Amino acid sequence: MADLSQHLLGTDFQSPVLLASGTCGYGQEYADLIPLDEIGGMVTKAVSREPREGNPPHRVAETPGGMINAIGLQNVGLERFRLEKLPWLRENLRVAQVLINVVGHSAEDYGSVVSGLDGEDGFLGYEINVSCPNVKDGTLFGTDPTALSALVTRLRDLTERPLVVKLTPNVPDISLYARICEESGADGLSAINTFPGMLIDVEGRRPVIGNVSGGVSGPAILPMGVYLTWRAASAVSIPVIGIGGIRSGDDALQYILAGASLVQVGTALFVDPASAVQVQAGIADYMERHGVGRLPEIVGGLTLPEPR
Ligand SMILES: Cc1cc2nc3c(=O)[nH]c(=O)nc-3n(C[C@H](O)[C@H](O)[C@H](O)COP(=O)(O)O)c2cc1C
Repeated sequence: MADLSQHLLGTDFQSPVLLASGTCGYGQEYADLIPLDEIGGMVTKAVSREPREGNPPHRVAETPGGMINAIGLQNVGLERFRLEKLPWLRENLRVAQVLINVVGHSAEDYGSVVSGLDGEDGFLGYEINVSCPNVKDGTLFGTDPTALSALVTRLRDLTERPLVVKLTPNVPDISLYARICEESGADGLSAINTFPGMLIDVEGRRPVIGNVSGGVSGPAILPMGVYLTWRAASAVSIPVIGIGGIRSGDDALQYILAGASLVQVGTALFVDPASAVQVQAGIADYMERHGVGRLPEIVGGLTLPEPR
């Protein structure tokens, strides 16, 4: 049997496959659908200091090769997350790892969520979302090198748990932002969040999405995700989590060969909640067929053409 485990962020992941933030709620929503504790882990819906109601409907729509969403970071807020959601994760995810996705309007906001949760059990660390295109200021920190560096430095001082920064694809050179995160104390990176987009209902001559624009995800963004993961992973020595359009073991392997140590499955869960389990089985099958004993042997194992 292929060994799917990975040792990183100071712990063991039994598999490299995680569920992506915003596509699996707080875990409990998926409990009857897939054996959550048999995958690598999950990232919670974003948690902000105060509860957020999110954007007006429609919030999601299908696009060619994917979907567009503008949920607007609706969430129960720090206190309800701590009291009502975290206990379930603590009880039920004994082996699968949990990262908490954190958002804020300001560095103080992010800091309050991290400080407010840090003393609790039941999760590994944080995925810092500086890359949401669907809310005002959602990518402020992810696109401003100075603000990003200050935010990561500030959060680093607040916690010893793993800090993973989720990067936006909407910058000219992702490697610059990857390096800033590493230099400011991040333990890992997630790449990527969604691309801004828009759909128009031509009969009504109106935007389909209540927020007018939203974030595009799903298979359509896979080549961009693979490229940006490769660029980010080539720029840093901290682990990178590859995200974007993954539906199969082969999709995940593209990210792994590009340098991702872990992957996340998001939009595919809306088509089939079991897709993450299938991605995991597909990776194991590939490893067996190619005689790969352990996953780190192929992380970043892409062979590039000789320069001419
Ligand atoms: C409905 C929906 C909600 C999302 N909410 C969040 C969120 O709260 N925080 C975050 O960092 N990313 C969020 N994302 C982005 C995903 O985690 C992921 O980065 C993106 O969808 C690309 O992966 P995919 O193509 O596999 O879906 C959301 C995506 C979708 C489709």
